[in-house]
Amino acid sequence: MSDELHRDLGMLSAILTSVLDRLGPPGQTQAVEGMLELCRRGETIGFGEAREQVAALDLESIRELIKSITLRFHLRNQAEKVAILRINRRRQREATEFQPRRESVAEAISQLKARGVAVGAVRRILDRLDIQPTLTAHPTESRRRTLLRKQRAITERLIELDEVGPDVAARRRVEEEIHQLVMLLYVTDEVRSERLGVLEEIEGSLYFLTESIWSAVPRILHDVGLAMEQYFGERPLVPPLVRYRTWVGGDRDGNPLVSAGMTRESLRLHRRAALGRYDDKLADLMRLLSLSNRRVRTPPALAASVVPGRLTGWVAEESVLRLRHEPFRLKILEMRSRLVAAEEDPSAYSAAAFLKDLTLLAESLVALNLGEIVRASGLADVMAQARIFGFHFAALDIRQHSAVHEQVVGELLSAMQVCPDYASLEESERSGVLASAIEQVSACGSGPMPTPDGLSETSLDLLGVFEVLREAARQDVGALGSYIISMAHGVSDVLEVLFLMRVAGAPVMDIVPLFETIDDLTASADLLAAMLIDPVYRAHVESRGRFQEIMLGYSDSNKDGGYVMSSWLLHTAQSRLARVCREHGVEFRFFHGRGGTVGRGGGRSNRAILATPPDSRSGRIRMTEQGEVISFRYTLADIAHRHLEQLTHAMILAESESGPVATARPVASEPLMDRLGRRAMEVYRELIDDPAFWTWFVEVSPIAQISALPIASRPVSRASGAVHFENLRAIPWVFSWTQMRFNVPGWYGLGSALSEIIAEREEHASTLAKWYQEWEFFRTLIDNAQQEMARARLPIAQCYDAAGGTSLFDRISGEFDRAREAILQITGQHALLDNNRVIQRSIEERNGATDVLNLLQVELLRRFREGDELQRATLRPVLFASINGIAAAMQSTG
Ligand code: PGA
Repeated sequence: MSDELHRDLGMLSAILTSVLDRLGPPGQTQAVEGMLELCRRGETIGFGEAREQVAALDLESIRELIKSITLRFHLRNQAEKVAILRINRRRQREATEFQPRRESVAEAISQLKARGVAVGAVRRILDRLDIQPTLTAHPTESRRRTLLRKQRAITERLIELDEVGPDVAARRRVEEEIHQLVMLLYVTDEVRSERLGVLEEIEGSLYFLTESIWSAVPRILHDVGLAMEQYFGERPLVPPLVRYRTWVGGDRDGNPLVSAGMTRESLRLHRRAALGRYDDKLADLMRLLSLSNRRVRTPPALAASVVPGRLTGWVAEESVLRLRHEPFRLKILEMRSRLVAAEEDPSAYSAAAFLKDLTLLAESLVALNLGEIVRASGLADVMAQARIFGFHFAALDIRQHSAVHEQVVGELLSAMQVCPDYASLEESERSGVLASAIEQVSACGSGPMPTPDGLSETSLDLLGVFEVLREAARQDVGALGSYIISMAHGVSDVLEVLFLMRVAGAPVMDIVPLFETIDDLTASADLLAAMLIDPVYRAHVESRGRFQEIMLGYSDSNKDGGYVMSSWLLHTAQSRLARVCREHGVEFRFFHGRGGTVGRGGGRSNRAILATPPDSRSGRIRMTEQGEVISFRYTLADIAHRHLEQLTHAMILAESESGPVATARPVASEPLMDRLGRRAMEVYRELIDDPAFWTWFVEVSPIAQISALPIASRPVSRASGAVHFENLRAIPWVFSWTQMRFNVPGWYGLGSALSEIIAEREEHASTLAKWYQEWEFFRTLIDNAQQEMARARLPIAQCYDAAGGTSLFDRISGEFDRAREAILQITGQHALLDNNRVIQRSIEERNGATDVLNLLQVELLRRFREGDELQRATLRPVLFASINGIAAAMQSTG
């Protein structure tokens, strides 16, 4: 731990103590310390005594303990975030041309230079890059926004402390501000009382787009330009290689609240936000660019664009008169006026025309020998922003479940008298029916078909979405992203969407199958090939410039087949899918549906990129950014910038080693790795399919409470009625395992698979050790698992297990022991995470206080199970608070 982090933690702890002494119940600090001490002793003597102590506490004391300890974690999380920033800044100061900062854009470009890649080839790599992180409203951020804002303010104060240095008065002022923020955190409810609405989710994600993302993305483009100049002596116009997408307001899968109206609202709010941000920027430029035509001549192009006749209707006559000597300001005034009008009327201004006007301003400055002012005034940034964000900020994807499409298509086909019972058709029959239906609709023209009578609400709302898309396309086609089909199983899934688009006269969008079960991933290459040879779908792909996007689901495949099998299948599917695309002459982009935890495809994004099979790379990538991951990565502009530069760094390097022939994977490894995946899945499914399993899971885990957490608009299950393993969504599934500290989705199955393979033949151990050293995929698989295992805590998990009618503890812990042994053997470590001391240490330091939260939760769950309805109602908010507390301690939810 650095001295600064140590100092910050000490200061925050002193502030917390003083806040507890002032606002908490009498003796609160001692109560917390007492519990911590008991739990520390629990490490050696077991948690029996601590549990007895907890059982004797009244509900109010439990609530207070949870609040105090949660607050302690929130403060620690902020201090650790500042420590990360500090390390980055230090590395930036120490960086030189020959030794650029690690994982920076400069490092990637310098490596290409060192490898002798020619400048033209580097430019081509940059031109190909297409990185599109996608914000979603997945329910994994358990903190309220008001808490997030206060925590962010604390982080900013900690940074300020570094900046004020030894100035005692300034330090005292900042410390007092932190003190006040901690007091406010203490008196604020940890859990919101109402579920979030879709509108709030849209506003929430816009906050990150308009703040950190808005400023971090142009910085990346600037970094690339600078690095090119530094290492290759030329500064190209860097293409907008990073752009954002959003699902918020468009992801309808399992969320009935995302109506067509909400989709319209999302598009409107994004447009309004973008126009508003440009207007702010133009207001700044207006203040700065006071160039007078009495001091310098007006460049002809600018002069021509502000002749009075052209400004009529946009700039009032008095303003034209007032600014007659300041042509830049006059032009900017016109641009602002068009921006305001464009919110309602797309013909007032387009993103392309806006960019053209910005370019005119920049070129005029250059013509006046004031080229430096383009950057200094912020004009260069706003030009980059206009290229990246357009007038839509982030293109909106639509996602819906294949079963919903099937239902709606069935209703339409029956109303059109094409097919009375579509649902009963076999997959092989459906394509033919859909192809002729599409032909029939297309023959009637490109407008929407009259809506038949008697359609269900579901159908009407889905058709309403297409209508919204039609309107949106008229306004700004750049605002439309892809159409994603959850649980895609076959050709009919994509044809159904094509049919619906035709029926609704909707604009053509990329149609994206999402493969997310083990069976679908296994068959994905064949499924895609079948899609690409289907003449109707093929024609659609042609119309999209021979382009196909493919989404891969990490969590559902993990929930279905366990960690190892899902990771391996996702890896190999990418190679196979890429091959199919190449064989069919189609460009492709993978879209990775990843969550924050390892069980949902989490882990470091840059490592994940470098671990992809080289033959699956296309220079293009999308990935979801969700919940707590969004708050971690995008609350501070500097952390957002770091995240983006790591992504860009990895993509540049990955792209320089891509293509069908480049492969780092030892081909001979496949059968062995296949066996590992299959065996791990068997062991995982034996656990999940055990007849006692689901009852046990419901009895011992906080799944019921997680399901009721008011943290997002969408329900925990797609189906109404009773929740069971099959219909439970992946997030609450992983969330529950994380809270219980078993972390099963991040490692289970690995133990048996590895140990059996090692026991089978001596040389297998050395093969696996070699893979770990040389094969990025395998190393990431093992490292992510060991991190999840290090974050697990079996003595605590045992306390949860003890509440069940049966116990599955021995089974899970046996598998855990086998996995640990095997990992240590393969990696040559003495303990888990010896290769990452910083995280290892942070986990150790967190464990004590997390134990207290876990034991309090175990006790609350017991009371909840035994209580009547009235008691449960009082216990519920405290249980929610315990879930938030553990999420803060683990820095992840589900
Ligand atoms: P989904 O996402 O349930 O919305 O498909 C799962 C996840 O992100 O873990």
